[in-house]
Amino acid sequence: MRLDYLTIFPDYLAPLGLSLPGRAATRGLVEMHVHDLRDWTHDRHRTVDDTPYGGGAGMVMRPEPWGEALDDLLGPSVGGGAATVVVPSPAGRPLTQALARELATRSRLLFACGRYEGIDQRVIDHARSRPDVEEVVEISLGDYVLNGGEVAALAVTEAVVRLLPGFMGNAASLEEESHEQGLLEYPVYTKPATWRDHEVPPVLLSGNHAAIAAWRHEQAVQRTAERRPDLLHPSHAAGQWQVVPAV
Ligand code: ADE
Repeated sequence: MRLDYLTIFPDYLAPLGLSLPGRAATRGLVEMHVHDLRDWTHDRHRTVDDTPYGGGAGMVMRPEPWGEALDDLLGPSVGGGAATVVVPSPAGRPLTQALARELATRSRLLFACGRYEGIDQRVIDHARSRPDVEEVVEISLGDYVLNGGEVAALAVTEAVVRLLPGFMGNAASLEEESHEQGLLEYPVYTKPATWRDHEVPPVLLSGNHAAIAAWRHEQAVQRTAERRPDLLHPSHAAGQWQVVPAV
């Protein structure tokens, strides 16, 4: 998989060389390229933003540097086939395990990390019309506002790269994680069996694999019901409580 990042803060993405994505690159599973958007400006101040049409607070990223950067990075000379353009935005589709799984099937991801009040909408609309773009996905990390898309790009990268075939040593450990089965993960314990008067639940020491599996499932369901009832019953999502008509 080829991963490109367009940003005005390339240093923000230095952690890509560490940890999980770094390991995936060393093993040849991914190829990562970070680009400074200002390399596609032509004025002395390397300007990337301007005031919004229609007025309002803040600045908007001008379309020209983005357009030229996408022309260069998506063009036929760059390998990997049609790209999925990922645009981090608080107005995007929420990042979920299902979305990470979908992105893990793509051959190229290009992250367009905006700053300020966002990128001129025409950049996104134009990218959607390009034959070298498979899809443009706007992705939100959650219902809060960050200063830019870089942290979200790192989060998406980590969620996706660890799903690539050959990345995780043990595929079973992937399947048991939070969200893979639509539930939060059960609590986990390791040695010693007693620590500061806290015991490991005895069933885990029993050697009875069926009882252990049943206990873990029950814990996962209980945790999910307590902490994230919306995962069990989507209609319970915050702000979407259904009004039950009086009989
Ligand atoms: N950029 C600013 N806020 C964001 C968020 N919540 N998710 C993704 N990108 C963002």
